[in-house]
Amino acid sequence: MSNVTLTIDGQRVTVPENYTVLEAARSAGINIPTLCYLKEINEVGACRVCVVEVEGARTLQASCVLQVEDGMVVKTNTKKVREARKAVVELMLSSHDRKCLTCERNNKCELQNLANEFNIKEISFEGKMKVETVDMKSTSIVRDPNKCVLCGRCVSVCNRVQNIGVLGFANRGFETKVGPVAEKSISEVPCINCGQCITACPVGALREKESIDYVWDAIEDSNKHVVVQTAPAIRAA
Ligand code: FES
Repeated sequence: MSNVTLTIDGQRVTVPENYTVLEAARSAGINIPTLCYLKEINEVGACRVCVVEVEGARTLQASCVLQVEDGMVVKTNTKKVREARKAVVELMLSSHDRKCLTCERNNKCELQNLANEFNIKEISFEGKMKVETVDMKSTSIVRDPNKCVLCGRCVSVCNRVQNIGVLGFANRGFETKVGPVAEKSISEVPCINCGQCITACPVGALREKESIDYVWDAIEDSNKHVVVQTAPAIRAA
């Protein structure tokens, strides 16, 4: 395989011709933030957090899916790039369940890290919030669609790495969802509880079921069997 040489932030970088701009930048020690990207697993250019300016291109380009070319000139840290990345994260946060303090992934969340990195102090866009039921029915996985950022990393891991294929996308636009096929509970599909989707999730949309969840399950289950006694009618004397 032959090499190509491009310029990234003024630095000449020589890499194999099958590299993406993101890989070329990383090989040169230049950081480009990402969210949906998982090397060789989820390279779909969905989130646009990794956008860069390419000389001659009319629009910003997602570096994680942009193939390098000989002579390419790339800028990864211009004002335009920084503003676009920040706007992308602000838009995600605008419909995100922002209960970070009580979230399993607090301080370990890639979305939270990006918000800190881009110095986001307030939510600029107030939009419709997702209000969906948290799926607690699986024996080992809790899925909270209100925290999902639709990156597709769990879907790719489930389908392409584990070959299970119980997670997928449904609907379009604001109604787009990631979850078990046919919008079922994880407990209703042939999930093997491997937990790889949890590892791949950048936020708190998927997590392991904890002991406290079993307590709530038990309470819910026992409530189903409570025989509700009705008070005898009070007769008028
Ligand atoms: Fe490149 Fe999401 S990381 S588009």
